[in-house]
Amino acid sequence: MSYEPTLEFARRRDEADPLRSLRERFALPRGARGEPLVYLCGHSLGLMPLAAREMVLEELTAWAQLGVLGHEHALRPWIPYHENLRDGLAHLAGARPPEVVAMSSLTVNLHLLLAAFYRPSGERRRILIEAGAFSSDRHAVASQILWRGLDPRDALVELSPPEGMDTIPEEAIEAYLEEHGANVALVLWPGVQYRTGQAFDLARIARAAHRSGCVAAFDLAHSIGNMPLALHDIDADFAVWCTYKYLNAGPGAVGGCFIHERHDRPHLAGWWGHEAATRFQMRPEFHAAAGAAGWQISNPPILSAAPLIASLALFEQAGLPRLREKSVALTGYLEYLLDRMAPEVELITPRAVGSRGCQLSVRIMGQQGRGQRVFDALTTLGVIGDWREPDTIRLAPIPLYNTFVEVFQGAQALAQALRLAP
Ligand SMILES: Cc1ncc(COP(=O)(O)O)c(C=O)c1O
Repeated sequence: MSYEPTLEFARRRDEADPLRSLRERFALPRGARGEPLVYLCGHSLGLMPLAAREMVLEELTAWAQLGVLGHEHALRPWIPYHENLRDGLAHLAGARPPEVVAMSSLTVNLHLLLAAFYRPSGERRRILIEAGAFSSDRHAVASQILWRGLDPRDALVELSPPEGMDTIPEEAIEAYLEEHGANVALVLWPGVQYRTGQAFDLARIARAAHRSGCVAAFDLAHSIGNMPLALHDIDADFAVWCTYKYLNAGPGAVGGCFIHERHDRPHLAGWWGHEAATRFQMRPEFHAAAGAAGWQISNPPILSAAPLIASLALFEQAGLPRLREKSVALTGYLEYLLDRMAPEVELITPRAVGSRGCQLSVRIMGQQGRGQRVFDALTTLGVIGDWREPDTIRLAPIPLYNTFVEVFQGAQALAQALRLAP
């Protein structure tokens, strides 16, 4: 891809962008004086689709006007509300619709799925995760191990990057499983690592896990809506994700999960997983609904699911291949500009396009405390990214709403912030 380090070039790229009108469908945050901000933080919290407000208002109005009758008579009846999300999520996850359900939240779903899929037995009792995994994932697996009377010091394995590297090549996962796979019950791996931005070849990891007889499970918090996914075809056993990052469903919005259709196994249950036709007979026996819907516990959180309907419609309109194409170009442009305007920062995220999504993680070199000062200066200059201890700024241009001009402004501001905080 050929780029130029000028605002003029960025403007021309925006004018030629076939997806540019989608930006108008989002609320764009502004600073205290009403000035536009450069928002490069959709990897943490996606922006609000304007239609989300209408979707939520619709449900508030239905509640106000109908009360309990909204369960059946709202425009989108609340009882089967999760079904409004199924096809859109399945499409993004590369799953068959019955393999996917929107429910609960990421860590809770992870616990529910680990409860069913983590079956330690004899020597095969380990869970393999990456060193530096997201804290909540680590807490979940460690507590699951403890809860079964096992010891995380023995049963939790955290694979580190090879000496001198920030990222973990897939070969390292394969090599570990080749050697120790007989002791591993389950591999839990991120689609995109939250701190480094490294995207993994999930097909390869699933194959390696299965070759060794392990469950292949994925945390897709930073992947869904960011990377192309093919969970069904790669034969993943299960996956969980949140919808408030790349899926723009709002803070704390409903989570999602995938359970491969070949799995029909005992799991923790609640009334919403009961087959819909007889659920309200309230009988003591549990008859699970078919597919992932049978794993639901509680009735769906309507107000936190409504914005996701608005966002999924925008994904459908844009089409994932076009979004990915723009994402590769935007993130590539950020990389190109940082190399020229801020050569002193170190890129942690892989440079290979296939090994990353929207996000670039940059390491700020220098004395202790400098990184935080650079980040604060960047924020003061109107660029919203985020900071991860001890030395990393994460920036992600999002193809649904960011522009090449914003990428230019973001890189320029980072260069200025580095000068302001020497
Ligand atoms: C990789 C990863 N795992 C787990 C979580 C926790 O999500 P939740 O609070 O929705 O359970 C997050 C949240 O940002 C995350 O990024």
